[in-house]
Amino acid sequence: MQEDAFLKCVHPKCGLVYPIYSTNVQCENGHVLDVKYKNTPSTKLKDTFYERRNSKGSIFNESGIWRFRELLNFCQIDTESLEECSKFLVSLDGAEGRQSKPYHMSKAAEFLGIEKDGLWLQPEGYNPSGSFKDNGMVTAVTHAKLVGAKKIVCASTGNTSASAGMFAANEGIDCDVYIPAGQIAPGKLSQAYQFGAQIVEVEGNFDDALKQSLDDAQNHDGYTVNSVNPFRIEGQKTIPFRALEYLNWDVPDWIVYPGGALGNTSSCGKALMELYEWGWIKKIPRIAVINSEGASTLSDLYNGEFENEELRWNKGEPNTELISRYYDHLDKEGIRPKTKATAIQIGRPANILKGLRALEFTNGVATTVTDSEMLDGMSVVGLNGFDCEMASGASVAGIKKLMNEEIIKKDDTVVGILTGRQKDAMIPVDYHHNSENTFANPPKN
Ligand code: F0G
Repeated sequence: MQEDAFLKCVHPKCGLVYPIYSTNVQCENGHVLDVKYKNTPSTKLKDTFYERRNSKGSIFNESGIWRFRELLNFCQIDTESLEECSKFLVSLDGAEGRQSKPYHMSKAAEFLGIEKDGLWLQPEGYNPSGSFKDNGMVTAVTHAKLVGAKKIVCASTGNTSASAGMFAANEGIDCDVYIPAGQIAPGKLSQAYQFGAQIVEVEGNFDDALKQSLDDAQNHDGYTVNSVNPFRIEGQKTIPFRALEYLNWDVPDWIVYPGGALGNTSSCGKALMELYEWGWIKKIPRIAVINSEGASTLSDLYNGEFENEELRWNKGEPNTELISRYYDHLDKEGIRPKTKATAIQIGRPANILKGLRALEFTNGVATTVTDSEMLDGMSVVGLNGFDCEMASGASVAGIKKLMNEEIIKKDDTVVGILTGRQKDAMIPVDYHHNSENTFANPPKN
């Protein structure tokens, strides 16, 4: 097998490389890793990807992830044979990423005061497990299969565990999920149970659960499928791939994500860096990351709200001591991440370094929104006939805030990613019962 794909440390002065079969999520010096490819994929593949939208009976063409397989070819397969692909590629019968693409949503555009044709919202909740996680889980589990892992392990605010449980059940491997006890939406927790995952309840928040799951995976031969796993990032690159493809590769001005552990931000950044380097795009969209006000690590550090220093990637040498001091400060003051949008209730974003790299490459921004703004964002999406969860409402709320600040302009083209479906049934019910809410539609009696 030719070695076109390998793992490489992201630190420019370190740059250690590892074979693709490595299960390390860090280099020996503790830096995160990227999947790298030696070949430059030809732009002629744009036509191939388009043609595959007529799947001609191949689940790997139906899949919104594997349709782009040449751009994430870490299995190094060079065949169209269904049988050969099936030996390597995990898929839920082509369902992952199949239905998620950008849509115009006129009521959301009206609420935002943006040109109707300028706003695209991409509901990643229309994935089989109901969130964007399936994009990256399918690739992480493909790598797990490549290295012969028997058990996958993750920490989760709910969606990761639902996705991991679903693919593990389908592949017949074990799955342990570490969750912050009592802090995840019932609709997500029930999915993990239903798919037969082993739940491990952790007293504490997501950050505590992640620490415990990483330790346990290392000590008990588990394969970690959180977004610190570089193969998760590969699959999530297809979120911007699909957006760009549906826009005929006309690059938008902005791509907007809610920010939690920053896996999405990192994967979008990597996708854009590669497409630019390969000559597939000539312009670079700006990434906007929207934190919740109650879990605002990236926004605080990026905007200089801690020690008056604006944390930057700084060509691969970010001030990691500033990050450590920020975390010490949170611990010392007893500040815990707090938002009703539990999906993004994260204080220590595991992908902060790759997230910073993405912001530097795209001249990106980070900001915060309140819980009430997220609820309005979530609700206006619903009025267009799409549902999304509260954390996804951050994308809409963030666009509104950045437009008010004239950072996003009225005639800009904006793609907002709606990361997950509604799995917390009482959130919209409670919202609509309170007639003071912007889009409330209380019941009649
Ligand atoms: N939106 C939703 C619906 C999520 O579930 C998450 C993360 C995010 C946004 C944040 O994305 O981490 O890439 O910045 N959920 C994880 C989980 C942490 O465990 O399900 P990110």
